[in-house]
Amino acid sequence: MAQNPLRVLVTGAAGQIGYAIVPMIARGVMLGPDQPVILHMLDIEPAAEALNGVKMELIDAAFPLLKGVIATTDVVEACKEVNIAVMVGGFPRKEGMERKDVMTKNVSIYKKQASALEQHAAPDCKVLVVANPANTNALILKEFAPSIPEKNITCLTRLDHNRALGQISERLKVHVSDVNNVIIWGNHSSTQYPDVNHAKVTTSSGEKPVRELVADDQWLNTEFIATVQQRGAAIIKARKLSSALSAASAACDHIRNWVLGTPKGTWVSMGVYSDGSYGIERGLIYSFPVTCEKGEWSIVQGLKIDEFSRAKMDATAKELIEEKALAYSCLG
Ligand code: NAD
Ligand code: LMR
Repeated sequence: MAQNPLRVLVTGAAGQIGYAIVPMIARGVMLGPDQPVILHMLDIEPAAEALNGVKMELIDAAFPLLKGVIATTDVVEACKEVNIAVMVGGFPRKEGMERKDVMTKNVSIYKKQASALEQHAAPDCKVLVVANPANTNALILKEFAPSIPEKNITCLTRLDHNRALGQISERLKVHVSDVNNVIIWGNHSSTQYPDVNHAKVTTSSGEKPVRELVADDQWLNTEFIATVQQRGAAIIKARKLSSALSAASAACDHIRNWVLGTPKGTWVSMGVYSDGSYGIERGLIYSFPVTCEKGEWSIVQGLKIDEFSRAKMDATAKELIEEKALAYSCLG
């Protein structure tokens, strides 16, 4: 039986990530090959013409799953009855800037858009914040949209998760799909903690711990962590633009696993509302290992945390507490 289309909002749709993600959504990469979609694309007035150009290309691509396209600069029209909201709109970091530098511009956008989502989106709308500072924008969105359940507001750290998988697969010369259960703890920033203590690789002789196969704790505890933490900056340096295709792909992975579930025995990283798990202050939007089932995420419990990890998990939590204070001071 044909499924009803789901409405997917992409804000900042005329931008780089927008241009990469809308065809992925329309091809079923986000919600599966049988799920029709209606795309809602929002951008601001100066980008209206470019946004209309994206709409023209979507029509020209004749995607079988795409049942409608709304391209608008009206936030209310954009949010109407959306089931999934991918919040990409904002200003990206340029070379030499820290994420804090984009704070002032971006958090005020998220305060405004919170009310539009709260009033006009479908009641069970799942929200993914991509725009930086992603965790803090999501926190502001949550706090200014109190009627949206906190479990429905998340931020993207899947790109960092995928980067960690990529680095391990390159190092071990194994397929990236054979590497599982890395964790990104904390902020989508250079204080994030990419943790391989529970990660494993599927080999011809069964599952093996990543630490055992890499057999170089010095590399894992220094260069590996720094490479993942600094990958966003490395892409900006190389492209003179921030990551786009990998960010779009990771956003699709995030929503697909959230809606359709994580494979048994594996987890992914998502920036979610902290319930105090692992001693992380309640109410922060912090990246945890999560499993997803029936459209709900749950934080993986009971993982052993050593002293090295504890210090890194706390350092990134501290940065999020500081960012929260800074965000509120920007909002005035
Ligand atoms: P971009 O500048 O190419 O596109 C951003 C778009 O947002 C532009 O078209 C702009 O007009 C639009 N915009 C600005 N204000 C808006 C508003 N109020 N409402 C709707 N749209 C608005 O930037 P990009 O490269 O696509 O990056 C977008 C964001 O994603 C940036 O903040 C970037 O830092 C962030 N990012 C996050 C991750 C992650 O892993 N979390 C990865 C890459 C990029
Ligand atoms: C990334 O991680 O690629 C993005 O968040 C861009 C950035 O500012 O680092």
